[in-house]
Amino acid sequence: MNNYTTILYMIPIAKPVAGEEEAAAVHAVILSGMMASGDVVHQFEHAFSGFCGAKYGVATTNGTTALHAALLAAGISAGDEVIVPAFTFFASASTVSMCGATPVFADVLPDTFNIDPQSVEQKITGKTKAVIGVHLFGQCCNASALKRICADHHLIFIEDSAQAHAAKWNGRISGNLGDIACFSFYPTKNMTTGEGGMIVTSDKGAADRASVICNHGQAEKYLHSMIGYNYRMTNVHAAIGKEQLKRLPGFTALRQRNAKILSDTITAKGITVPYSAPEAEHVYHQYVIRVENEFPMTRDELMTYLTGKGIGCAVHYPIPLHKQPVFADANRDVSLPFSEDCAKHVLSLPVHPSVTEDECRYIADVINTIS
Ligand SMILES: Cc1ncc(COP(=O)(O)O)c(C=O)c1O
Repeated sequence: MNNYTTILYMIPIAKPVAGEEEAAAVHAVILSGMMASGDVVHQFEHAFSGFCGAKYGVATTNGTTALHAALLAAGISAGDEVIVPAFTFFASASTVSMCGATPVFADVLPDTFNIDPQSVEQKITGKTKAVIGVHLFGQCCNASALKRICADHHLIFIEDSAQAHAAKWNGRISGNLGDIACFSFYPTKNMTTGEGGMIVTSDKGAADRASVICNHGQAEKYLHSMIGYNYRMTNVHAAIGKEQLKRLPGFTALRQRNAKILSDTITAKGITVPYSAPEAEHVYHQYVIRVENEFPMTRDELMTYLTGKGIGCAVHYPIPLHKQPVFADANRDVSLPFSEDCAKHVLSLPVHPSVTEDECRYIADVINTIS
């Protein structure tokens, strides 16, 4: 144990970093009088999609609306099936249902927590139209395998990049791995706009359709060719996003530094630190350990203990999606052992850019001294 045996404050599990630059950018938008969607949104779309190496960006109100609009733009509708990992945030699957289609749940890999390509192949039917590859916790799923499977079966590959800004697979950045990608800029994410999201793609047709869907189904003012929604981002939010994008490389480096300290110093038997696949550049949206059965406390006991020691922690996610009440009836006979197991054993520890090196060592010390 270090010389600091305890701390007298709570290390939060998440903390957005924003300051004078973001405040000045919002101030300028407010004084411009152009607060709704306009030039600043277009600049942010251009900058963020460019950062992802993609041709087009369509900014939205949040990551959920980005996924909904992207699925609609991909032509997903009633009668279609879309394969989704069972171990992810609810919106990865609820947005499929919002299109009238059916989410079909695939299992995840026990080491990366990401969708298992073999499980995806087993779930393909004549009704399958797309696969959603979620890059969970900041690590890209196996995009090369999913791309191959999607090409072989003529399926659309949608990236749920909500947790994976700047993450890479084989050197290629998230947002540029599939046909269309969706990001979230919620305040806990690796960069934020307050609330916000973006669809990123190099497919002009998909980008045009998504843009119309996000704007009441009108390609021209007051000419509505389809039922659309008001999913438009505002200039106020985009102004924050433009500043946050400049800071993203610094945020990412700090998350990676913190993850390295945690992984190097957590040595407790029965704790498995995050595994990063050799093809992946992990950006640690969350730092997720597994509390194995051999550890002297259960996962829930450890969470309570750490909270008492001033260490904020959280379970992402306690219930796999095929067991959620809204999906359970349709999936009564579905068994996805790794998703079910992960939900029981995972625990997220603080890794965000505001966590200091000393705090990382404190977290490790507290865990290592449990016996
Ligand atoms: C994997 C994943 N997909 C989609 C979303 C939805 O994003 P938002 O909260 O911005 O609607 C989230 C947000 O937590 C997420 O983690």
